Amino acid sequence: MYINEWYVMAQSEELTDRPLQVKALGQKFALFRDSNGNAHCLANVCVHRGGSLSSGKIKGDCLQCPYHGLQYDGDGICRFIPTLPEGAKIPERAKVDAYPVDERYGLIFAFLGDLPEAERTPILEAPEWGQDGWRTFNLLYHWHANLEVVTENSLDATHAEFAHTATSQEGQFRLGDQASIEMLDYDWGNSYVIRSGSLDLTQGHHGISQTFGYMNFEMKTADGTEPGDFRFYAYATPVDEYSVRRYLLHARNFYLGEENDKQLLKGVWQFEKEDRVLLEDTRPLLAPNPDTRQLLLTEDQIIAQYRDFVSQRQQAGWRIDTERVNATREQTVYAIPSPARRESTGWITEEIPRIRPSA
Ligand code: FES
Ligand SMILES: [Fe+2]
Repeated sequence: MYINEWYVMAQSEELTDRPLQVKALGQKFALFRDSNGNAHCLANVCVHRGGSLSSGKIKGDCLQCPYHGLQYDGDGICRFIPTLPEGAKIPERAKVDAYPVDERYGLIFAFLGDLPEAERTPILEAPEWGQDGWRTFNLLYHWHANLEVVTENSLDATHAEFAHTATSQEGQFRLGDQASIEMLDYDWGNSYVIRSGSLDLTQGHHGISQTFGYMNFEMKTADGTEPGDFRFYAYATPVDEYSVRRYLLHARNFYLGEENDKQLLKGVWQFEKEDRVLLEDTRPLLAPNPDTRQLLLTEDQIIAQYRDFVSQRQQAGWRIDTERVNATREQTVYAIPSPARRESTGWITEEIPRIRPSA
């Protein structure tokens, strides 16, 4: 699992006027809305004596710890200590990590890491959201599979004819006579287009955890054919090393009427089940190490590129050392470092250990 990425913490509608506990990167977070309705994301453990902030109460623009009532604002700064004498100064060390939040597309994203804004990979854009001529909706999948394994599946076109037999024909992606692959330039990751008959399928990854797919095809209509455009944007959040929440945003410019959703959704949930069952039973459970223990074929070039991309993140020191975290977790609270750690000192909670880059 990797820090320094925008991850979806919840769907907007899940965060009401109460705090919400969310798990990501193996850690707990407390989400809450201030008096203006703006969402905030804090590390869940109170620095006083370890209360779980997400079990507390919202007080104005602050979140109040359920144990002794310390109140933290949306920046993670403690603004009130109930037992402090009138006029006494709140210690500077009374603070928890607070993460940048961006709410859009009906989703609450948090940047879980300490990179300054200019260095962050932006959120994958879904420009069709709410636009005329497009119908969009959000789905949430819970899969017991590792994030990298899930992302690789999302980049993979050629499993369709075996894993999703209702929508693919056998031999559709035979390279040479039936299909061709072209790698594309993409600023925030890697992408490619695979062409087969009247179908063009562009897929790619954006950062480590976000993927997209554009499908252009010809649809049969009463008077011939019509071009159809189907797109997806997938935002995956690692709950821990072995499970993900996958937020999928669908957009289509055909069959726009709401009455078509039911039929389309049936197909989408069939797809979901087919991939889930497949991925929960593939091995190894984590991304293969070394990856020479898998046979990559021509069509897997995107997989090889994705793995290179991920290993650059490891070289940057962003990969969480899960073994060390697990070995010490009973006595040590860890925090995903927030951007404020680069600006100030006096942090009580220890930064989560990461795998040291190899020399
Ligand atoms: S543990 Fe949070 S106020 Fe004491
Ligand atoms: Fe699939």
